[in-house]
Amino acid sequence: MSITVVPAPTFSDPSVDHAIQAIVSGASTDATCSTDLAAGPWDFDSRPGYGPGSSMGDVIPTGAPRQGELPIEYRDATEDELDARIRAAKEALGDRVVILGHFYQREEVVRHADYVGDSFQLATAAKGRPDAEAIVFCGVHFMAETADLLSRPDQAVILPNLAAGCSMADMADIDQVEDCWEQLEDVLGALDQVDADGRVPVIPVTYMNSSAAIKGFVGRHGGIVCTSSNAQTVLEWAFERGRRVLFFPDQHLGRNTAKAMGVPLEQMPMWNPRRALGGSTAEEIADSRVILWHGFCSVHRRFTVAQIDQARAQNPAVRVIMHPECPMEVVDAADEAGSTEYIRRAIDAATQPTSFAIGTEINLVRRLAAQYPQHDISCLDPVVCPCSTMYRIHPGYLAWVLEELVAGRGPNRITVADDVAEPARLALERMLAAKPPVSGAR
Ligand code: 13P
Ligand code: SF4
Repeated sequence: MSITVVPAPTFSDPSVDHAIQAIVSGASTDATCSTDLAAGPWDFDSRPGYGPGSSMGDVIPTGAPRQGELPIEYRDATEDELDARIRAAKEALGDRVVILGHFYQREEVVRHADYVGDSFQLATAAKGRPDAEAIVFCGVHFMAETADLLSRPDQAVILPNLAAGCSMADMADIDQVEDCWEQLEDVLGALDQVDADGRVPVIPVTYMNSSAAIKGFVGRHGGIVCTSSNAQTVLEWAFERGRRVLFFPDQHLGRNTAKAMGVPLEQMPMWNPRRALGGSTAEEIADSRVILWHGFCSVHRRFTVAQIDQARAQNPAVRVIMHPECPMEVVDAADEAGSTEYIRRAIDAATQPTSFAIGTEINLVRRLAAQYPQHDISCLDPVVCPCSTMYRIHPGYLAWVLEELVAGRGPNRITVADDVAEPARLALERMLAAKPPVSGAR
């Protein structure tokens, strides 16, 4: 593994890669959660115990897609060489291609994106470019699947590195969810039985961060998709139609949202798929309002109340904003909580120089700090710890897929099978009809 020695970057440099390279080379005294990230994804994905679909330290799910070896010319190229190759390929492709970049992507990738936004905004952004033959999705697997569901059938959605999964999405697999549904039926009776109020026993709700198979399951069982920007609206929709909700995969988004709506914690049992009845009693399930799947985001669970206390001790006027994927006690201790787009808008709307301590992924926080120099914007987690699955979209992979497209080939196409796509689209359409989330990031 070759390490480039670079000077310690300032916070006006949004590049997380530069920050990690500086830590590893000793030019910076900051800490990172994994020095492995200084290498290319082709290096760290080749190790046992760490690979496709997993974040640092998570177990690799069986069946996670595998990325073929990236040709050596892309692995060996410098940052500047890759930048030039990406620009040239993009220029050659013109309107035939649209590049989408998630807020959590590396700076070296985001700078080439035609649209930058949250997972929902990007899924629908493709609709604004019906002329584009290829949608190069610089995000993670479930986002590319959603773009495939919402784009025209003849548009190819391409994920530059197939190993860019989401460990949270992988925490709910379709077999476990089907099994859970059967167990709920044993306790609650026929799940399609409507009561005197016109409600069924349970409505399944899945966070956007889930596989297309789970979205399809939800669509087939009268359920709906939500994002972190519309979770409350979606839960209201579900409670109009069901006596309770089965929410997956993110326990924290489910708990934080339901709690804000007044659902008592005692009525939110957790469903651990490795235990009978998810680890609850039949009485707890019968008395529940929201059953929370045992999933979480490895990045957002790093945030703690102690970090908030420290930020406030340093500056009592600091404005603390957390993403709702963070644990409940952390969200409760913050001033505000909201989606990535909420955080961006809150900063954009601040008219006076403000000190912000943000609880979300570091690539977005560093970019906001560089974009809004009038504010003092920092990440609550002092350790540089990006979403390592997003981080797999290295500019080398972007250069490779674009040059393949120039050559008339279309690698890494993400396609959702028709039998899954139809109900998954239904679940997404129910969400769009419930209330469109905030739009337009750039
Ligand atoms: P958004 O829906 O805000 O884009 O978040 C996606 C995500 O993965 C957050 O961890
Ligand atoms: Fe998944 Fe967390 Fe990464 Fe979002 S930040 S893509 S939830 S692992």
